[in-house]
Amino acid sequence: SIPKFVKIVEVGPRDGLQNEKNIVPTSVKIELIHRLASTGLSVIEATSFVSPKWVPQLADANDVMQAVHNLRGIRLPVLTPNLKGFEAAMASGAREVAIFASASESFSKSNINCSIEESLIRFRAVTRAAKQLSIPVRGYVSCVAGCPVEGPIPPSKVAYVAKELYDMGCFEISLGDTIGVGTPGTVVPMLLAVMGVVPIDKIAVHFHDTYGQSLPNILVSLQMGISTVDSSVAGLGGCPYAKGASGNVATEDVVYMLNGLGVKTNVDLGKLMLAGDFISNHLGRPSTSKTAIALNRV
Ligand code: HMG
Ligand code: MG
Repeated sequence: SIPKFVKIVEVGPRDGLQNEKNIVPTSVKIELIHRLASTGLSVIEATSFVSPKWVPQLADANDVMQAVHNLRGIRLPVLTPNLKGFEAAMASGAREVAIFASASESFSKSNINCSIEESLIRFRAVTRAAKQLSIPVRGYVSCVAGCPVEGPIPPSKVAYVAKELYDMGCFEISLGDTIGVGTPGTVVPMLLAVMGVVPIDKIAVHFHDTYGQSLPNILVSLQMGISTVDSSVAGLGGCPYAKGASGNVATEDVVYMLNGLGVKTNVDLGKLMLAGDFISNHLGRPSTSKTAIALNRV
């Protein structure tokens, strides 16, 4: 049996726009977030308070958050790799953050310039500061199905990092297949390992669609009881430090599948497609959502 309701975490403005060659104007980011907020989504990851030298695409994080943090009825988490990012996020009006660790040592180094253990020390500082301000912290684990350098990652390593993040106070652990190499064949054993150490209702899945495996991976995740799914409008996305990784699974495709399964999301597919059209038009290229392409034809 699968959950009756799935919470979708829209990551397009962050995971999507962090990877665009041409920097998207702040006003377009703000308009995208407003449009997404009108679809019924309850969580939109808005931006990242990371080094502008590492991710120039999101150097306007403060301006974006100043403009949207008062939107009602919606949670707008932001990525914070360290205390510096956390403090900047708080100053901008952000009221929820996400920290991001990796199950791969090489990817940790290339993405946040430190080892996994060093990153956990930094993240403990963030979760401690957040706890004092009653700020919820989400924890990501990257490379849960494979790493661009190391290849396959053992499920025990994913479970180890997931448990560390959970134990330091993360309310939810999002398992990221950063480069989209996982299939149900590798995702199921990985999820079983994490479910052994983190309660199922605290686990989210975050699939990139490089090999077209996201929807089957989401379906098996739902069958295992997971009810939080990350996705990106128009399939925007990728990680600047994971070469060749394509965008996240498209939110439109996830909503279409969940509608077909009779699973509630509260997301209006029509309005979502309008948000997808808006950003695709701005970027000057077609959406990668098969649902958006199909429904725009009929
Ligand atoms: P570093 O160079 O090792 O940092 O970068 P540092 O502490 O040595 O500081 C160097 C400079 O950066 C200093 O400035 C700091 O002030 C500044 P300078 O003195 O040279 O002028 N700095 C900052 N500035 C703004 N905000 C900050 C900040 N921290 C330091 N928070 C660091 C380490 C972590 C900062 C860097 O590597 C970084 O920003 N990495 C972010 C990479 C990133 O955003 N990747 C994409 C997100 S992860 C992802 O996409 C995966 C996910 O979607 C899940 C999945 O798909 O699997 C979540
Ligand atoms: Mg990602």
